[in-house]
Amino acid sequence: MSDTPEITPQAVQDAVDAALAAIASAADTAELKAARSAHQGDGSPLAALNARMRDVPKEHKAEFGKLVGQARGAVTQALAAREAELAEAETAARLEAERIDITAVPSRTRVGARHPLSLLQEQISDIFVGMGWEIAEGPELEHEWFNFDALNFDVDHPARQMQDTFFVDPVDRHLVMRTHTSPVQVRSMLERELPIYVLCPGRVYRTDEFDATHLPVFTQFEGLVIDKGITMAHLKGTLDHAARVLFGPEAKTRFRANYFPFTEPSAELDLWHPTFKGGARWIEWGGCGMVNPNVLRAAGIDPDVYSGFAFGMGIERTLMFRSDVQDMRDMAEGDVRFSEQFGMVV
Ligand code: DAH
Repeated sequence: MSDTPEITPQAVQDAVDAALAAIASAADTAELKAARSAHQGDGSPLAALNARMRDVPKEHKAEFGKLVGQARGAVTQALAAREAELAEAETAARLEAERIDITAVPSRTRVGARHPLSLLQEQISDIFVGMGWEIAEGPELEHEWFNFDALNFDVDHPARQMQDTFFVDPVDRHLVMRTHTSPVQVRSMLERELPIYVLCPGRVYRTDEFDATHLPVFTQFEGLVIDKGITMAHLKGTLDHAARVLFGPEAKTRFRANYFPFTEPSAELDLWHPTFKGGARWIEWGGCGMVNPNVLRAAGIDPDVYSGFAFGMGIERTLMFRSDVQDMRDMAEGDVRFSEQFGMVV
């Protein structure tokens, strides 16, 4: 004798209610699977009730068959509905968990650009190295003797004033931030064998304003030649060559008489080019001259045997004319958007 209940509408209803409750409370597909085997599988109350069909008298078979069939149908339907619901929720949860935010800003490193002043300094150096010259360097924190005295500046020369020169405390140590690259001339004459053909590019300091045409820290290139039989014609030819390489074959230079303590005679160097902004015109490019015999003597060189020429130009000014830069401050600020315009050479 089986312990399964008689088929009664109540027993069928109880089995369906229990099944629907279990299905509704299944929180995920694993729980639903357990509910399915408990309420629809072979050992379920409904399966047991179904098995009792054979005991049902013939005339009631159709009626009870329908009752059990409808009950099983309801359970199957509830299972399918809940399964779909859980599957959808689980897919949604997975999509949320695996979400990739394609709107995020990528953290790619931005490629930089060489600074145009560094590029131009290298191009200028190349011109002179191409003629067999050497590159000479000196310290930016310089002794007053190299910056002024050895270059034949009087003790009371106005360039030495505090208004122009950064003196470094304590003042009695006579250290200055070099105001030009000319002290490298003296260092080169003291350190090198004769003859000397050197280009000295580098940073210099003056108590200037920070505005469109002045920077308190800027760069210059200085040239120095000491050899036997050097004349002003050599100076002119050298500067013409440099001007043509930098500005194009139509570039011209001219000298205007001027005074510098370390050269005699001295000249202001002007540069002409047909396509300068504002039309073909002369612009002041730098200073130059024949090395003053006093400077040669200060460096232990006999002015009766050797002569030489020297010149000095600002690299910022050169870049302004060459690339039509309107405001020098752009060269000091280090904004990559400015540097990029001169190429991404690294
Ligand atoms: N040192 C000068 C300056 O900074 C420039 C200069 C003039 C350099 C004449 C020279 C030179 O070598 O011969 O204003």
